[in-house]
Amino acid sequence: MRPSPCFHGASDLCLIFLDDQAKRRYKKELSHQRYRGAQKGSRSKTLAFPRSPQRRRACAEMAGGGLAPSNGDVKHYNGRVTSFVIVTCVIAATGGLIFGYDIGVSGGVTSMDEFLEKFFPSVYQQEKTASGSKNQWCQFDSQMLTSFTSSLYVAGLISTYFASMVTQAFGRKSSMLFGGAAFLLGSAINGVAMNVAMLIIGRILLGVGVGFANQAVPLYLSEMAPPQLRGALNMGFQMATTIGIFVAGLVNYGTGKLHAGYGWRISVALAAVPALIMTLGAIALPDTPNSLVERGLRDQAKATLQKIRGTDDVEAELQDMIKASEEAKKVSDPWSSILRPEHRPHLVMAIAIPMFQQLTGINVIMFYAPVLFKTIGFGDSASLMSAVISGLVNVFATTVSIATVDKFGRRVLFLEGGIQMVVSQVAVGAILGTFFGDAGTGKLSPGLANLVLALICVYVAAFAWSWGPLGWLVPSEIFPLNIRSAGQSIVVGVNFFFTFVIAQLFLMALCHLKSGLFHLFAAFVVVMTLFVVFLVPETKGVPIEEMTLVWKKHWFWKKYMLDDRITPSEHRRED
Ligand code: BGC
Repeated sequence: MRPSPCFHGASDLCLIFLDDQAKRRYKKELSHQRYRGAQKGSRSKTLAFPRSPQRRRACAEMAGGGLAPSNGDVKHYNGRVTSFVIVTCVIAATGGLIFGYDIGVSGGVTSMDEFLEKFFPSVYQQEKTASGSKNQWCQFDSQMLTSFTSSLYVAGLISTYFASMVTQAFGRKSSMLFGGAAFLLGSAINGVAMNVAMLIIGRILLGVGVGFANQAVPLYLSEMAPPQLRGALNMGFQMATTIGIFVAGLVNYGTGKLHAGYGWRISVALAAVPALIMTLGAIALPDTPNSLVERGLRDQAKATLQKIRGTDDVEAELQDMIKASEEAKKVSDPWSSILRPEHRPHLVMAIAIPMFQQLTGINVIMFYAPVLFKTIGFGDSASLMSAVISGLVNVFATTVSIATVDKFGRRVLFLEGGIQMVVSQVAVGAILGTFFGDAGTGKLSPGLANLVLALICVYVAAFAWSWGPLGWLVPSEIFPLNIRSAGQSIVVGVNFFFTFVIAQLFLMALCHLKSGLFHLFAAFVVVMTLFVVFLVPETKGVPIEEMTLVWKKHWFWKKYMLDDRITPSEHRRED
């Protein structure tokens, strides 16, 4: 057997993260490995776990990116980054667009007068009479209004469970198709809605769409992506989410200016555009090789793998997929396994990280920014524009995280983001408490209102480079293989549950806690930042299958680790 001709694909990409000296050393190591591989005639390359920090970082980069580990070594498969795989991943990532468009559209719509007048006349009346003398904190407090926003997440929460079964039995592509179709139908019903019931039914269908898309798309991306690009392509989903939120803000800004009575219809119906892209895209996309193997379609799996890796020699990767699928079938019940003591840190992270992500209060801004800005005295158009501005900050700050997370590590971003969020939330609460007053009868000067907007942008930026992407990245990299899918389901479920709670309770909480609400969220961020300080270990540069070592070394979590569980590198040292 000849050595891999395309081995450069993985190594060269990984080199962009290294300094010159490390690059030279790493390239030397690779040529040695290639030489040894050629001598042994092996088809896939196996690197010993590197001792030096730079090489460790380089290999971990690739492992974090998904190079399949087996027998404790970081393996390199044949293949290169093909344009075909990039195009398929970009199409699949549009699943993030529908998630984001939904998050961004509902807040703008619920602040539009024509929409309120038609479906929530009591809120509309309250809003009109409140201006001037009454308490403005409570003008949007309506359980019906919040159920418009939050019903989607209950539907998403329930449907994610069914999506996981469809995804497993019929493939990722089927779930994306089903999700896209449900989303299309939901946006059509919402666009022509004549009453609240139609609105809610439409939202539930959108929820089913998002539930299926969020279950299938990240899996699809992970499985299709070439290992060395897996991290970046996963974050592409979050990137697409922020773009969706931003576009929804822009659309709301445009339709809010129409004042023709149907602007909101255009906003909700336009959700069909990303849904159509995803649905048509899903028809054209191939299913992932992993899913094809899982369903016994090995020949198709091989053909797909050859196409996406750009080489005929994919036997090593295919065999590992077959092995992994057989291993996964042996674990009878990952749900009871995840409850065992040695998985306590994983379980705690699977619950705490998505819960804390939502308790930052980000969706208060994402869902209700226009309502919030109206509450503090911005005009209709200025409120929608402010949502566009914070949406843009969200998109750009996400790129900062993508560029720095593997240089500075997860903890630095978590901690810096946490401090920045606390400072801005405390400042917003203080300004509103002092100048707007708890009676909600005050008025902010234009200068102060702009300062509040600027502080909210500082807060959104902090979230976007910390808890936003990391809230999805960190849980996904800590689970051992046998509980990985169960763990990921918990993460999605907890995330949607707390999204629902925040969406449902925010306007009521704003009415009762007033400016204190910002201080409450700041207190949550203090708690989660302390949680990171004491309980979240740094996972940067650690190969996924070496992760047990991180828990074993941790001052608190080590007591849950079984002594006989040794990591691949420990294994080698013993040899
Ligand atoms: C969160 C969403 C949030 C979005 C904002 C995501 O990571 O899960 O709830 O609306 O970030 O960009």
